[in-house]
Amino acid sequence: MPIRRLPETLANRIAAGEVVERPASVVKELVENALDAGATRVEIVLTQGGKELIRVTDDGHGMAADDLPLAVERHATSKLPSDDLLDIRFLGFRGEALPSIASVSRLTLTSRRRDDLHAAALTVENGDLGDPVPAAHPVGTVVNVEGLFASLPARLKFLKSDRAENEAVSEVVRRIAAARPEIDFTLVLDGRAVRYPAHSADADGLRARLSDVLGRDFGPNAVEIAAEREGFRLTGFAGLPTYNRATASQQLFLVNRRPVKDRLLLGALRGAYADLVPRDRHPVVALLIQADPAEVDVNVHPAKAEVRFRDAGLVRALIVSALRNALGASGPRIATTGAAFAAGAFRAPMHPSSFAQRPQQNYPVHGTLALAPDFAEEQSGFDLPRSADTRADEKPDPELVALPLGAAKAQLHDTYILSQTSDGLVLVDMHAAHERLVYERLKKERGRASAQVMLVPDVVELAPDEVSRLLAASEDLAAFGLSIEPFGPGAVLVRETPAALGQFDIRGLVRDVADALGDWGAALPVAEKLDRLASTFACHHSIRAGRRLKPEEMNALLRQIEAEPSAAQCNHGRPTYVTLSRADLEKLFQRR
Ligand SMILES: Nc1ncnc2c1ncn2[C@@H]1O[C@H](COP(=O)(O)OP(=O)(O)O)[C@@H](O)[C@H]1O
Ligand SMILES: [Mg+2]
Repeated sequence: MPIRRLPETLANRIAAGEVVERPASVVKELVENALDAGATRVEIVLTQGGKELIRVTDDGHGMAADDLPLAVERHATSKLPSDDLLDIRFLGFRGEALPSIASVSRLTLTSRRRDDLHAAALTVENGDLGDPVPAAHPVGTVVNVEGLFASLPARLKFLKSDRAENEAVSEVVRRIAAARPEIDFTLVLDGRAVRYPAHSADADGLRARLSDVLGRDFGPNAVEIAAEREGFRLTGFAGLPTYNRATASQQLFLVNRRPVKDRLLLGALRGAYADLVPRDRHPVVALLIQADPAEVDVNVHPAKAEVRFRDAGLVRALIVSALRNALGASGPRIATTGAAFAAGAFRAPMHPSSFAQRPQQNYPVHGTLALAPDFAEEQSGFDLPRSADTRADEKPDPELVALPLGAAKAQLHDTYILSQTSDGLVLVDMHAAHERLVYERLKKERGRASAQVMLVPDVVELAPDEVSRLLAASEDLAAFGLSIEPFGPGAVLVRETPAALGQFDIRGLVRDVADALGDWGAALPVAEKLDRLASTFACHHSIRAGRRLKPEEMNALLRQIEAEPSAAQCNHGRPTYVTLSRADLEKLFQRR
């Protein structure tokens, strides 16, 4: 078959396959054009999830009537004045968006520059160009996109419900809004409006806009990031690990103010939070990278969602170290929402009369107060330290009380330590906290971990593939103090165990490690594999829930937690302690 040149409209439709995936991508392109035109206000209106109408109005510099046909022509752009692809100062530069959109919809451009007497309008119907006609419109541009994919049933079929398309549009607008706090955005979806009012263009403005976009909780639950390395500046905010989410939709990356969803950046983020959030949860961040445009290639993805850094390793290291430092330096802080939850969980005992409304249950009666069964249980599980030097009726040591985690007063349910601080009380999950401490110790001692030699080596029986996995990793295991040797096809011999773990169930640990090695396969980078091994080890530490601690042991544990910044979360990202300040207590008891 002969080679032929494709007709313009067909070429545009092919480009549209990459650039115009769904209404959200149209919105992204049109809003980017508005920003490139220097708009200060942008309004986005959609009906029926964008299938019926998408309209973007801006107050930017507009276009001349003669330029309208050029704007919808392929590879026509006003944004590459110097022919230099390494010097991109605008969000657009490919000259593809308008022709692509116009090839799969009915597109009308109406625009007016400041000095024009009136506006001009141009309509393109599925690629067929009309003539510019005079129109009435204030300075700026409005782009109408009607019947997206209406003439292409095959593509229309791939669109989701109006609600799902609206949700995708909201996310696109949120990301762009985060990048430009100084611009006023209004988004109207099927008649319902969301407004992001303009803020200042500085750090305060960014903080205010992020709280509009990520929610008011984000600010108090985030640490500020500011780091610089070889011309790359990283700023923004990183959410506390305990303030995590079920999806990654609250992770914003802006490279030279361009919202991107870049794999390298997501990977760096995962590395930074690796052992701080559970694997199925996602931290919330808004990170801005500023660099010389020549260091960042944005021409690697048709929708410009990904970028390529000249020095990817540098960017990754910058993100990981800045985040880890900032999160570590934030000290033992946990999400305030955790404290709010704790406060909410402390409920006042029900009034006796409310029990009368539930006659099917019988509650034991102590004195004049009826107690729900679980409350009675709680009382029996309340142990006061029995040692002579810390008695409940005695005033706790003021020096201990002044410390962040205070003086231990009691152990509850064999699991929690209740301690008194100068400003309230702290409840520690001693199992989770100790696990974290063991994990940190194992990581620090890696390679020179002290081991305890077994009097009689333990034989652990396993499946043959588990044995070979363990033996293949024996060097890594030895770095943590676990030494194993082959013992026939279906068993290993354990000679030494990590001292940090104390007494524990060796078989359980060896089986878990074998499982874990199987789960990760060879896919993980070495450093991450070692961290996960440490985490698997730490699960088997000696203080299991159920063990009674002496007051000195409790206080020693509190001091260790204070000394280890990351001990505020367990290895799975849950808080290891919660605090209730006096103010919280007063609120709970409605004293104010
Ligand atoms: N809202 C707008 N205001 C002013 N000019 C615009 C607007 N939208 C598009 N244009 C002009 O149309 C051209 C083509 O737009 P587009 O197809 O999105 O390509 P690109 O943004 O890559 O240049 C732009 O370069 C710009 O000159
Ligand atoms: Mg554009």
